[in-house]
Amino acid sequence: MKAKPLHTTPTYIPPPIRQIPVPHQLPLPSPPPPPTVPRAISITAPETRVAVPVVPPPSIDLDDSITAFWDYQFLFVSQRSETTQPITLRLVDGAVPSDFPSGTYYLTGPGLFSDDHGSTVHPLDGHGYLRAFTIDNKNNKVTYMAKYVKTEAQIEEHDPETDTWRFTHRGPFSVLKGGKKVGNTKVMKNVANTSVVRWGEKLLCMWEGGEPYEIESGTLDTIGRYNMMDGHDFSTEEGSDENDDGDGDGVWELAAGLLKPILYGVFKMPPRRLLSHYKVDSSKGRLLTVSCNAEDMLLPRSNFTFSEYDSNFKLLHKQEFRIPDHLMIHDWAFTDTHYIVFANRIKLDVPGSMAAVCGISPMISALKVNPSKNTSPIYLLPRKSEANNNKENRDWRVPIEAPSQLWLLHVGNAFELRHPNGNLDIQIIAAACSYQWFNFRNLFGYNWQNQKLDPSIMNIQGENELLPHLVQVSIKLDSEDNCEECNAKAMKKWKKSADFPTINPTFSGKRNKYIYAATTLGSRKTLPSFPFDTVVKLDSETDSVQTWTVGSRRFIGEPIFVPKADLQEEEEEDDGYLLVVEYAVSMQRCYLVILNSKMIGTSNALVARLEIPRHLNFPLGFHGFWAAAATGNQI
Ligand SMILES: [Fe+2]
Repeated sequence: MKAKPLHTTPTYIPPPIRQIPVPHQLPLPSPPPPPTVPRAISITAPETRVAVPVVPPPSIDLDDSITAFWDYQFLFVSQRSETTQPITLRLVDGAVPSDFPSGTYYLTGPGLFSDDHGSTVHPLDGHGYLRAFTIDNKNNKVTYMAKYVKTEAQIEEHDPETDTWRFTHRGPFSVLKGGKKVGNTKVMKNVANTSVVRWGEKLLCMWEGGEPYEIESGTLDTIGRYNMMDGHDFSTEEGSDENDDGDGDGVWELAAGLLKPILYGVFKMPPRRLLSHYKVDSSKGRLLTVSCNAEDMLLPRSNFTFSEYDSNFKLLHKQEFRIPDHLMIHDWAFTDTHYIVFANRIKLDVPGSMAAVCGISPMISALKVNPSKNTSPIYLLPRKSEANNNKENRDWRVPIEAPSQLWLLHVGNAFELRHPNGNLDIQIIAAACSYQWFNFRNLFGYNWQNQKLDPSIMNIQGENELLPHLVQVSIKLDSEDNCEECNAKAMKKWKKSADFPTINPTFSGKRNKYIYAATTLGSRKTLPSFPFDTVVKLDSETDSVQTWTVGSRRFIGEPIFVPKADLQEEEEEDDGYLLVVEYAVSMQRCYLVILNSKMIGTSNALVARLEIPRHLNFPLGFHGFWAAAATGNQI
């Protein structure tokens, strides 16, 4: 796979203000590419260390690859400052609508990428930096706060007296330069940076590899780890499902027994890890979570425990499933009668494992995608309830096979329709990419060897189906729950690179019509696919699309739907607003943007834009949550 240079002439050299790492042309992913491997767009980077400008550069040709390189770096500039008091945001466009509900939009993501001793970490290993935008519509005020989640790793790595940082943990995706590398067993670095939820009056920041951290919602101060999994042996719980996999299972049980003392004792991994993606079943008023066993990361079997909580965080229901395959699940789906797991298949990388254990490559190098099947296995796991406790016709251990190979990233929504004859249709809207493109070692274009970020890996020419994009998965079961049909297709009207699908949360798990996602129009030659600069609204019934684009040299993060205050019965699914953060990289400013979801596609879509003070400009966030003031929950 060769990179194709597009432009090489710099039009602007930024003034020396702040040192950041400078990427070079990256070697593209190994092993050697199959015939259809995508061609990365080349981003030209300066050969010497240069600095991040703090003033807007002069007008630059949008297709200039140097500008593209810089624009990408600005999304990952550390923000060390926190707020002690809420700061009132200045309205720079429009007005907050009178029917916008009061509440808080929480957004989490990494805040820090470099320490003061020469180490840089992957964005996924950056300490969690929680941002909170509180909209007080009664007093017509929007305030902002931001603080680091004081995880155990953050407390160890940050000296509050000198405000200096020294990374001591490796983190799963990084290798330390300035810290201890070889023999460093501090691999799992719970940075609580991936998602946030407010539920049952608890505000939790979550990470994929351990327990969530509880945050005081008024001050954003960290209370401590919140024990949601409590170390119970779930297989002994009443109502749990367990699969005996037959002859092979004993072997893997033995392997698990050998791995556990190493993972728990040497690498200090918690026995179970909570996935950062949770679900809210709006019709039942429940929070749904999934946890896995730590050792499953290295074994060809996966234990999933699904838990359901009421609005007071009381555990109502729990089920365990053991799937005989080696999987890496980031997001999942649910319907009234099923939990749905898309089997992103992985395998051990033996040379990578040896390098990882020695500390000379990131721990994630021990794993790689497993493209040995041409299909995408989808597990339909029965979700028991009072209503459907007994009916279980099909063997959930046998996956449904979607005909094409997809690596699932994020789910927008899933729902099911039961026909009078007993047949069941399941529909899922999600974002997925190809096994060919997905690579644990260079997510976000981060190269752990030179510690640099190269946007070219996120941008390939004319191969949108390889990149993250929206897919519609349809499954048809007969009355005996045998699979009659399963297909997974790119959305007909929107095939461009897209991710972070979301819906009006009132419809989660129920039949819905509108999907919103972050995407790009692809008009910028050197960054056609990522970062995103556009919100797309899809009508799944008519397959029509509308878009809103943020503008030149500006990007957006995950959109989130906020239903209107006092939503009336007769109001429609798209009666509400979208919140999205705008990253105006050329100005190094962030804005909170409110869009009228009904008006997407028209010139009236933008209803308000609020400016975050320059000194609190923050890096790209991952996932957010809207907590309405009245209930604390989004439903
Ligand atoms: Fe995610």
